[in-house]
Amino acid sequence: MAILTQLALGYWMTELPKTPPGLRAGWFNVHKSVGITIGLFILLRIIWRLTHRPPALPEFMKPKEKALAKLGHVALYISMVCVPLSGFLGSSFSKYPIKYFGIELPKFLMANDGLKEIMKQIHEVSVIILIILIAIHVLAVLKHLLIDKKNILTRMWF
Ligand code: HEM
Ligand code: HEM
Repeated sequence: MAILTQLALGYWMTELPKTPPGLRAGWFNVHKSVGITIGLFILLRIIWRLTHRPPALPEFMKPKEKALAKLGHVALYISMVCVPLSGFLGSSFSKYPIKYFGIELPKFLMANDGLKEIMKQIHEVSVIILIILIAIHVLAVLKHLLIDKKNILTRMWF
């Protein structure tokens, strides 16, 4: 849910005008703060995932489906890292400060317009890849629920 809200916020804020001053910058900082927080949670999630084996995929899935599901999840994790990381690096190379919920973070990279542009493009492209993966993911879940009539959602809890 947080990631979906952040996607909407990202697209909405880039449409904001630069006047009145502060409006756009304010929402950009909200996006950066929320994005950094989500990024940290994703890191925790990945550490958890690597140290805790999930239950085996259900019996009714064919080996090919299992392999596809695993590939899809790995791809989701990779883009869930690339999106906030490129956002953070892009903002670090920019001349603007990063305010984490009002507190200015120390910059550990020098402002560099070229690298900022590259990171910005990686952010934009990885966002699109993430959206496509989420769409496929949700379609796959719906397929299991509606066509196979198997309730797989119970697997999302302990
Ligand atoms: C889960 C995390 C994140 C998501 C889903 C996300 C999503 C988005 C989206 C959809 C846009 C609009 C892209 C476009 O104009 O085509 C955007 C722009 C932007 N994001 Fe993020 N973002 C995330 C994390 C971050 C972080 C951590 C930062 C910085 C600390 C950041 C900084 C920016 C900036 C500066 C822009 C506007 C300029 C640009 O395209 O680089 N984002 N983001
Ligand atoms: C309507 C929304 C969604 C539903 C109903 C849903 C449902 C599910 C289900 C049932 C699984 C379990 C697969 C298994 O049995 O092992 C799963 C796994 C996963 N989902 Fe979603 N999902 C949704 C949205 C999302 C979004 C928005 C993301 C990321 C941006 C996401 C990322 C993942 C990842 C990475 C896994 C793999 C978990 C792991 O094995 O570590 N999902 N999802």
